[in-house]
Amino acid sequence: MNKKRFLMIMLAALMVFVLAMTGCGKQSEGAEQADASAETEAETSDETEEGSVIDYMVLVNQNSPLPDGWEDALELTTITNSVGDEVQTESTAYKAYCALKEAVEKDLEGYEKGEVRLELDSAYRSVAAQQKIVDDFTEKYGEDYVKKYVAVPGYSEHHTGLALDLYFTIDGKDVYENEDLVQYPDIWEAIHARLPEFGFILRFPEDGEAITGYAYEPWHIRYLDSPEIAKEITDKGITLEEYIEKSE
Ligand code: DAL
Ligand code: ZN
Repeated sequence: MNKKRFLMIMLAALMVFVLAMTGCGKQSEGAEQADASAETEAETSDETEEGSVIDYMVLVNQNSPLPDGWEDALELTTITNSVGDEVQTESTAYKAYCALKEAVEKDLEGYEKGEVRLELDSAYRSVAAQQKIVDDFTEKYGEDYVKKYVAVPGYSEHHTGLALDLYFTIDGKDVYENEDLVQYPDIWEAIHARLPEFGFILRFPEDGEAITGYAYEPWHIRYLDSPEIAKEITDKGITLEEYIEKSE
């Protein structure tokens, strides 16, 4: 092998290694690891201004749409989940998710129903992607369900890339549909117990519908980039709306 060819191979191997390390990496044993070499850091928009940063405390809800220009500063990490869907997450939130996943999977070692692996169903969504969910869910579950569980396009926290919908596998079997996921309160309890230390909150808690506008969603977590604030919100049993109102 000539020297140039050897160097090219080494460079390619290094690139694969670097890309693999941008994902959940070695601690992930599910599809994310299998696909780790294919994971990519999505390009930051060309229009990103130098120094522009994400406001991790942004409030997007039924009364507050996604702020203008949000996507210009959004850096996304793309993975493929266990059911073969591509999921994009704000890159810092994705790293925190990987740490959460590792901790939760360790906590659930020895779970009576089998080995649990955390997976990402959905994180960043464009307005068009949100519209597709509204349409699909209206067909599948009806309008009343959609009002309780799905945001109007433009008003979904998923547009920020900071909201993550989780699901899991048990002994390699996907537990994916909402009606199946709610059958495992013990697993959700283990997941929710670990959220604050990694900067996440449970965004739509059981008794929060009057304030958040949405029914309980055990799978929908929100990244705040601050374990301290996440802990305060969780310990006080308040919603993000209440925390922000109190801080103003
Ligand atoms: N499920 C939440 C409310 C959303 O659609 O953004
Ligand atoms: Zn969600």
